[in-house]
Amino acid sequence: MKIKIIPLLVLLILFSWTNAQKNGKQINSESDVPSYQLPKLLESDRGSIKNKAQWEKYRRPQILEQFASQVYGKVPGQLPIDRIEVLEMETEALGGKAIRKQLMLHFKKGDRSMGFPVLHYIPKRKQKVPVFMGYNFLGNHSIAEDPFILIDGKKEDEMEKEDLSNFKPESRGSRVSRWPVEEIINAGYALLTVNYNTVDPDIDDFSNGIHPLFYQENQTAPEPDQWGALAAWAWAMSRVLDYLEAEPLISADKAILFGHSRLGKAALWAGANDPRFSIVISNNSGCGGAAISRRRFGEKVVDINTKFPHWFAKNFHQYNDNESELPVDQHMLVALMAPRPVYIASASKDDWADPKGEFLSAKYATSVYQLYGFKEFNFDRFPKVNSPIHKRIGYHLREGKHNITHYDWDQFIKFANQHLK
Ligand code: GCU
Repeated sequence: MKIKIIPLLVLLILFSWTNAQKNGKQINSESDVPSYQLPKLLESDRGSIKNKAQWEKYRRPQILEQFASQVYGKVPGQLPIDRIEVLEMETEALGGKAIRKQLMLHFKKGDRSMGFPVLHYIPKRKQKVPVFMGYNFLGNHSIAEDPFILIDGKKEDEMEKEDLSNFKPESRGSRVSRWPVEEIINAGYALLTVNYNTVDPDIDDFSNGIHPLFYQENQTAPEPDQWGALAAWAWAMSRVLDYLEAEPLISADKAILFGHSRLGKAALWAGANDPRFSIVISNNSGCGGAAISRRRFGEKVVDINTKFPHWFAKNFHQYNDNESELPVDQHMLVALMAPRPVYIASASKDDWADPKGEFLSAKYATSVYQLYGFKEFNFDRFPKVNSPIHKRIGYHLREGKHNITHYDWDQFIKFANQHLK
C-alpha cells in the first residue's frame, strides 16, 4: 500500500510544481508558453479593415483609445511649454565638432510649476540636421565625460545637499558606453537627452513631477484610466518636440525617438500618440513595451504591476494574471507607428524582456504596414543573433545581455540613414 502512495504523491507534487511555474513563476522555456489568441489587428466592430483609410478612420483610433484607457493611462488635458530658459551654450564642443546646448523647459499651471533640463549636441552643418532623442537613466551628465554638462540643470559647485539625492556627481561619464556621442555626431545627427526622473521621478509617488500640474482641486493621484509614469515620460518627449519645431539647427520633422528598457516602453507609447516622431526605436523594451503580454514569458503583467505600480494606469492592474482579457496586445502598439519606420531591438540573453515576444510583435504589426504598400519583411523566422532585418520595420537580436551597445547604435544609425537620408 505504502509503496503505491509514494509514487502517486511524487506525481502530485510534480504536477502542482509545474502548474505553479506556469501560473506564478517566470516562464523561460518556449514549451511553457501558454496557448493564446491575440486580438485581431484588422477586425473592427464595422467588420474587416481592408485599406489604410479604414485603418486610420476606425481601427487605429479604437486601439489607441484602448491602450490609453486600459494600459498606459490618458493625459488629462493639455499643457504647453510656459518658458524656455537657455542654461548654457558652447559652439566649440567635442573638439569644435558640435554645438552643446542646455535648456530648461518650464511648465506652469495655476500656482504649480516644474521644469526639466534638456541637453543636446548638434553637429556643425550648413543645413538643419536630424536628431536622435531619448531619455537617460542616471542624469544628463552620465552620457559623456564632458565636465560642462550640468547636473539636473545646475553646476556642480552650486548644487545644494538635497539636489544630490537624485543625481550623483560621480555618475559623470558613467554611461558613455551606452551613448556613442561622437559616432552619432560624425554620422550627421544631433543627439538630445533628458533625464526621465526630472520629468516624473521613478517612484510610486504621484505628488511630484508633472502629474500634479494636471490635478483638479483636491486630487492627489491620477484616476484609474489616467496616466502613470510611462505616459508622463512619453508626454514630455512630445513637449520636447514642440520646442524642437522652433529650433533653427534641427529638423524636427526628422526626429528619431529611442529608448532602452522602461524608456523603450515610453518611446513606443510616445510614438503611438504623436505622429510627428518620424522613427521610433525600442531597445529591449520587454513587458509593456514590444513583447507580447499573452506569452507570459519572462516578465509578466503581474510582475511589472507589482514591482512598478506607478508605471501604468491603475486599470492595467485588472490584467494581472488575466492577460487574455486585455483588449489589446503589444503587436498593436507597434502597428500604431505605421506607416513610419519602427525598430525593435532585442538581446539574446535578455529572457526577462522576451526577445521572441518582441520579434513577434514586429512580425504581426506587418499586416498594418502592408495596407500602406510595404510588403517585404523577411519576418517568417525568428532571426539568428546579429542578423539584423532592416525593412520598414527593423528588428535585430543582438548577442548578449540587457543593455545598449555600439552594435545596437550601429544598427539604429544605419536604419535612420536608410529612411531619412
Ligand atoms: C526592470 C523591469 C523591466 C524594465 C527594466 C528597465 O527589469 O522589470 O520592465 O524594462 O527594469 O527599465 O531597466
